Amino acid sequence: MLIFSRITYLTVSMALLYCVVLVLLCVFDSASATVIADMDYGGVPLWINRLLGEPSVLSLQGRMDPIWFRANNPQACPQQCDCPIQWPTALYCDHRGLADIPDSLPDRTQYLFLQRNNISSLSSTLLANITDLRWLILDHNQLQSDKLDQAALQNQSQLCYIFANHNHLTSVPSTLPAGLKQLRLAHNKISSISPGAFQNLHNLTLLLLQGNRLQTITDGDLKGLVSLKQLDLNGNLFSSVPRHLPPSVQQLYLSNNTLTELDEDSFVGFLNLKYLRLSHCGLKSRSIHPKVFNFSSLVELDLSYNKLTTVPTVPTTLQYLYLEANEIQGFNLTSFCRDMGPLSYSRMKVLRLDGNKMSYHQLPTDWVFCLRVLESIYI
Ligand SMILES: *[C@@H]1O[C@H](CO)[C@@H](O)[C@H](O)[C@H]1NC(C)=O
Ligand SMILES: *[C@@H]1O[C@H](CO)[C@@H](O)[C@H](O)[C@H]1NC(C)=O
Ligand SMILES: *[C@@H]1O[C@H](CO)[C@@H](O)[C@H](O)[C@H]1NC(C)=O
Ligand SMILES: *[C@@H]1O[C@H](CO)[C@@H](O)[C@H](O)[C@H]1NC(C)=O
Ligand SMILES: *[C@@H]1O[C@H](CO)[C@@H](O)[C@H](O)[C@H]1NC(C)=O
Ligand SMILES: *[C@@H]1O[C@H](CO)[C@@H](O)[C@H](O)[C@H]1NC(C)=O
Ligand SMILES: *[C@@H]1O[C@H](CO)[C@@H](O)[C@H](O)[C@H]1NC(C)=O
Repeated sequence: MLIFSRITYLTVSMALLYCVVLVLLCVFDSASATVIADMDYGGVPLWINRLLGEPSVLSLQGRMDPIWFRANNPQACPQQCDCPIQWPTALYCDHRGLADIPDSLPDRTQYLFLQRNNISSLSSTLLANITDLRWLILDHNQLQSDKLDQAALQNQSQLCYIFANHNHLTSVPSTLPAGLKQLRLAHNKISSISPGAFQNLHNLTLLLLQGNRLQTITDGDLKGLVSLKQLDLNGNLFSSVPRHLPPSVQQLYLSNNTLTELDEDSFVGFLNLKYLRLSHCGLKSRSIHPKVFNFSSLVELDLSYNKLTTVPTVPTTLQYLYLEANEIQGFNLTSFCRDMGPLSYSRMKVLRLDGNKMSYHQLPTDWVFCLRVLESIYI
């Protein structure tokens, strides 16, 4: 009896302990990951992991008095930068018209903020003493491809984020560090990718190249990007869906390119493609092959602001379809359901058809049998 009660006691106390640990973990976890929704950094918010010591602000501008930091932080800090005491490894040198990266950067630097300056070059000597650099934020500068020292970043083995949106780069830098996870190069003048630029970047998950001047992607260009999930190619000069994209991609953005047609095999091989954006592409119904979207991984398809006159054929697994601002005149259920039955219906949740040449009463009477789980329809 005694043994029994001791066991019970032990079990209960262990269970209690687990509960406490679980609660701690949960509380800790929700407190450790924050999202900074700053649309200026290439339009993709940044997840901050506070457990790793990542700073949760990207700039101190307008937040705190720099004189206070200088007076209260005993650490060495370059004259052109601010060093907040709460993030000892972060160096804020942003928004100050600097023409060059400050010299004698402290070796402790892991998070380097240099956005909104006039920096045009990057030399390897300036970063040579910093071996733990994790983020390099260079948005809104004047970086030029021919002034980038090829060796500057190569040895930065801890570097996981490089942001250089809104610069004057004409090509993707070639010797990037192998551990990189995010490369944001939106709104530059990039027209080419140096051969082999990505061959070692097996951990890169996010690549932003929107607002550049890319026309094609050749066989070797993106080779090596085996973990790439999100690829933004909006607003480039593609005239067809580029070939040779990494098959791991889940989010592919190609809006604001002038695409003449979508072939049967335009998206063949993308077994993980879930979110596809093709708005503002000048697409016409007759230039879209009926089988081009026939793959079941697709969750969301954006074809808004094109010149479509009919609803394209989409897989029954599709959940979000955006067709607003086209020239669609009618609605045929075969676009969504090839046949109807207890298990054969469209999984569509949201369907946007507003800004077209059709009205609600044009929906066929039996549409509810096909679009059975629809939550919103806009006409
Ligand atoms: C930065 O560059 C811009 C444009 O080239 C120029 O107008 C501005 O005066 C420069 N600022 C500084 C502080 O040099
Ligand atoms: C790197 O460290 C060495 C030795 O401490 C120093 O002489 C040199 O100036 C430093 N270089 C830079 C760019 O800070
Ligand atoms: C990078 O590392 C290699 C090998 O360790 C070395 O030869 C090279 O000088 C380093 N480059 C820079 C810019 O520090
Ligand atoms: C890539 O990520 C894995 C898992 O996080 C890690 O073990 C590996 O060292 C990383 N590769 C590089 C080159 O940093
Ligand atoms: C596409 O271009 C239009 C018009 O220039 C612009 O309003 C829109 O924001 C752009 N969309 C994307 C995703 O680039
Ligand atoms: C779509 O692809 C599946 C196999 O993935 C195939 O069985 C089916 O016939 C295709 N449908 C059309 C309309 O091509
Ligand atoms: C819908 O499309 C199917 C196959 O393309 C066609 O046979 C049928 O006549 C169309 N229905 C209407 C109402 O246009």
